[in-house]
Amino acid sequence: MLTIKVGRRRIKPLNWLIFLSFVALIVYVFFSLIFLLPLFNKEYSYNIDKDNYHLSVKTKFKHAWFNCHTTEVYKIKSDDKLIVKTLGNQLISDGFKENNKNNYVRKSSEFGLCSDNYKRYKKTRKKGYIKFSLRGKSSQIIEYEKEYKDPYVNAKINNTNVKRVDVVSTLNEKQIGKYITSYTINVNKMHKEYLFRIIKIVDTKKPEIKIVGNNVIEIDYGSKYVEPGFEASDNYDGDITNKIKIKNTINNKKAGTYNISYSVCDTSNNCTSAKRQVVVKEKTKEVIVHEPKIEVKNGLTYVDGVLLVNKKYGVPKTYDPGVNEEALKKVKEMQKDAEVLGLSLPIVSSYRSYKTQEKLHASYAKRDGEEKASTYSALAGHSEHQTGLAFDLGSTDSSFQYTKEAKWLAENAHLYGFIIRYPKDKTDITGYVYEAWHVRYLGKDLAYKVWQSGLTLEEYLGVN
Ligand code: DAL
Ligand code: ZN
Repeated sequence: MLTIKVGRRRIKPLNWLIFLSFVALIVYVFFSLIFLLPLFNKEYSYNIDKDNYHLSVKTKFKHAWFNCHTTEVYKIKSDDKLIVKTLGNQLISDGFKENNKNNYVRKSSEFGLCSDNYKRYKKTRKKGYIKFSLRGKSSQIIEYEKEYKDPYVNAKINNTNVKRVDVVSTLNEKQIGKYITSYTINVNKMHKEYLFRIIKIVDTKKPEIKIVGNNVIEIDYGSKYVEPGFEASDNYDGDITNKIKIKNTINNKKAGTYNISYSVCDTSNNCTSAKRQVVVKEKTKEVIVHEPKIEVKNGLTYVDGVLLVNKKYGVPKTYDPGVNEEALKKVKEMQKDAEVLGLSLPIVSSYRSYKTQEKLHASYAKRDGEEKASTYSALAGHSEHQTGLAFDLGSTDSSFQYTKEAKWLAENAHLYGFIIRYPKDKTDITGYVYEAWHVRYLGKDLAYKVWQSGLTLEEYLGVN
């Protein structure tokens, strides 16, 4: 049996196992002390989560058996200052894992070795021994395109200037956003110090709007305003013409001065606006300087060559031309173009013979009485429909006037050679109430002139 002699006493171990455990423990403590310095051989890294403006600093303490590290998490406040508070600062050792909330969790089986080392590390921080501070503001706001010069840091250890300061920055001066710059000094083998600065690249410059053409544009009464164009550019976003919003209140049927406003904002919400004036000229009544030439041929009345049918000028009972093919072709063209825009303009009525008109008028007179019927229905021999040049499009219900179709028809019929024959508020001249659906074919040139004049056909021809 093996015995050990200590001084004069002989110790007799209970068994080999206890003895060897004791020796192992001595060896463990011995080596732990031997490796004390390497324990503080730190690794340092930091990671910036740019999207959430979180910044974590990881300090690793290397040990022969354990790897310990601290993690300090800083958060950038909305006013762009680093919160001084450390959100997480706990010692963890290898084998510890991050939980799903990105916080480190501690394993219950930790030996406590890391904690001891960390305490030692803390003790190396003597007050006043390290003087490390930012020069200038900790939060710098820089205008995009302006040169940024980092104000740097003051760094002294034991009253001696630090020669080497490691500066790492996420700064990208070409892009607006928030960036972080870190400054690191090595205090000694065991100790690094770090400072951070927030740099915000901002764009406060307004975009520019360029108006093409004159600032004041005059248009004739009733004619269309044609936009000469506009451009917008921004120092950061470049060409932002497609972002321009236009407000246009022009009423080409009312003489006056109108503003068109153009406004645009860049991605930093710097907004600018510009305007143009549009002057709608007074209605120019085409002055008929000559007496209109009224001719009657085969019972049909022509004024300056234009067939005129109204309450005063009629057509013979036997006049039976059928639908005018040229006019019908133009109606079809118009219908096709309207359809592309989702508008439906079916022909409700076109050519009507003397007889048809007679029956129709009689039925209206029976229903509403002659006086009322004559405000919306022509007597046989006095309807434009008998010429084959008139069409009722869309619907003959009075509510038609409020539809998109009626609006489009009023604005575009002249392009196909038609006019709205019985306009609103012209009953005293035409003798009929407003018929938004009734168009009369005049051919493109004349229809345009009549439309632009804002007059009824009678007024235009000078026969009212
Ligand atoms: N509705 C028009 C006036 C006509 O009957 O000819
Ligand atoms: Zn009609």
